[in-house]
Amino acid sequence: MNRNNTEVRYSRLSIALHWLMLVLIAAVYACIELKGNFPKGSEYRDLLKQWHFMLGMSVFLLVWLRLLARFVSPSPKISGGSPAWQATSAKLMHWALYALMIGAPLAGWLTLSAAGKPIPFFGLELPALVGKDPALARTFKELHEWAGTAGYWLIGLHAAAGVFHHFISRDDTLVRMLPGRS
Ligand code: HEM
Repeated sequence: MNRNNTEVRYSRLSIALHWLMLVLIAAVYACIELKGNFPKGSEYRDLLKQWHFMLGMSVFLLVWLRLLARFVSPSPKISGGSPAWQATSAKLMHWALYALMIGAPLAGWLTLSAAGKPIPFFGLELPALVGKDPALARTFKELHEWAGTAGYWLIGLHAAAGVFHHFISRDDTLVRMLPGRS
């Protein structure tokens, strides 16, 4: 595999970050969905919330490395090309996904900050981004929930597009992002 993106494949770093972040984002969603199974104030509910925050902040940190890898070497082309509308919608989708990976954690961080709650990060406590303001906390929480719902759609559509390219169009869109193939 390659250190940088080539004409036909993503770099080893881009591939590793892509799949690692998928696992992280799935865990972020799983934690917040599963928390509803436990009563308010229970140990497990609080633990799931803490993991939601910490894994979400990990996405926020790693996305900058991903963006750097993308700017250092541009994305490989799909062999045989693709219709202009597909290329444009793929580009829009990719930027929407980057916006989600930055915007959702940031809105979560702002929610906890404005609520005056601690922001845990694997034994550390991150600084509050704004002062305590319950009305602002509600606004950020709504924004965060909106971003979380939009994320389900964006990730679902992105995955469906990958499957469509692989099994229907039968091009190398998905293979360029798979590890361990030359
Ligand atoms: C990729 C990153 C993230 C995604 C996709 C995400 C998504 C979500 C979703 C879907 C919900 C449930 C919304 C609902 O009930 O309708 C939620 C709740 C929440 N998230 Fe996140 N989140 C992310 C990162 C973070 C981070 C980094 C923090 C804070 C540091 C955070 C703080 C919160 C808070 C405070 C809630 C409300 C929890 C409650 O009901 O008490 N999130 N998030």
